[in-house]
Amino acid sequence: MADHHNLKSYTHLFVGLEVQSPVLDGTCQPYVNLDNAASTPAFKRVQEAVNDFLLFYSSVHRGTGFKSQLSTHAYEQARRIVMQFVGASPEQHVCIFGKNTTEATNKLARRFPFTPERDVVLVSLMEHHSNDLPWRPVAKVVHINVTPEGQLDEADFDARLKEYSGRVALVAITGASNVTGVINPIHRLAEKAHAAGAQIAVDCAQLAPHRAIDMRPLDDPTHLDYVALSAHKLYAPFGAGALVGRRDTFERGDPDLRGGGEVEIVTVDQVHWSEPPERDEAGSPNTVGAVAMAAALRQIQEVGMQAVADHEAALTAYTLYHLNRLPGVRIFGSRDPQQAHNRLGVIPFEIEGISHFLVAAILGYEFGIGVRNGCFCAHPYLLHLFGLQPDQEVQVRSHIIAGDRTQMPGLVRISFGLYNEPADVDALVEALQKITRREWRGTYVQDKASGEFHPSGYRIDFGDYFNI
Ligand SMILES: Cc1ncc(COP(=O)(O)O)c(C=O)c1O
Repeated sequence: MADHHNLKSYTHLFVGLEVQSPVLDGTCQPYVNLDNAASTPAFKRVQEAVNDFLLFYSSVHRGTGFKSQLSTHAYEQARRIVMQFVGASPEQHVCIFGKNTTEATNKLARRFPFTPERDVVLVSLMEHHSNDLPWRPVAKVVHINVTPEGQLDEADFDARLKEYSGRVALVAITGASNVTGVINPIHRLAEKAHAAGAQIAVDCAQLAPHRAIDMRPLDDPTHLDYVALSAHKLYAPFGAGALVGRRDTFERGDPDLRGGGEVEIVTVDQVHWSEPPERDEAGSPNTVGAVAMAAALRQIQEVGMQAVADHEAALTAYTLYHLNRLPGVRIFGSRDPQQAHNRLGVIPFEIEGISHFLVAAILGYEFGIGVRNGCFCAHPYLLHLFGLQPDQEVQVRSHIIAGDRTQMPGLVRISFGLYNEPADVDALVEALQKITRREWRGTYVQDKASGEFHPSGYRIDFGDYFNI
């Protein structure tokens, strides 16, 4: 098992970790955030960069004043930092800023040069909806199987590549699963995709905060053609994300959004589009978000991606060791502490006989522990992991469509960030021990439409904590 005893602490790098959570017994508990796969708190470095930059903030690109030129300098510097973070080169790639990974995959889906002959996108069954649904209107989407434990079935990948030989335009795959923490062999898949004449796009929303990303030069057969990432999962919650991809793709065609900031000259009947990346950044960009994102990437690189991975592996191994010993807790995906280095610190589980909605509610309301529950925007993957038969799937669907989520299958998920510590795991394990023994305090009532449980007679007035 990886050693958790001498783990370095990174808590001093983060904003807001001292915030306490009110709990049901009327006291306050240190808030334990184990929902980092959804969004992460900010680095102090990000907060400082944003504060510093706001003094200078102004319009970018066409402003002639000092602040405008400085803002343009900051925005373009941020772009270079993102490119460097993912191993991209300015000659071969462009970095297009946007809101998040979802926007990036949607943009790529609209801008990718499909042809009638090459019209197939291979995605995996483990994809987040953000890397599945955008492809459906623009291509024939073929889903690669996953094994019963949730790993990519690479033999099926090979078989589909062969079955659709000459037709596969793109492999769109996640770098790591937001459900099981499975890490995909993206460079090996890239090599196979390229050998079949296809390109590869990697959803790095989960991978980027935890592992180094290296797009590699286009003449390397293992290169990645496109990567997408979100800053709010990377300790920079200021609304930015990036699509980094092949320059030649974005040099072609019309942008998907039309407006200012992306044209050279417009007449009443003609448009001459700018070169990339401006061509794909319609309207005024989120300059503050881009600065925040770049500051976060600088900070995490200073920590070092290997140190990040080691820290999370130790926490993950420690957690698995304990959860494996908790009666009634069933972990999905790999539960082997020895394998913690080969996955992300994202662990989904269920407690026998207790709804995932209820477990999550009790953790939050009684122990001040933030987790996520449900299907994590990866419904096909969850249904597969549960081994639901088609008729059961139909039943689930019909209940949800009828506005009843009370029986919706799902899991509880914990996911680590760089600031989590063994004490957070201890708090979780202690809480789960009590829950497995049915030792909770509140009387919980389930809301039919959302499926969520709330303790009856208890309400947090959030206005006491924050107002605008
Ligand atoms: C693997 C994966 N892809 C894509 C997304 C979408 O990211 P965003 O909501 O930032 O667009 C997520 C978010 O959880 C994710 O986990």
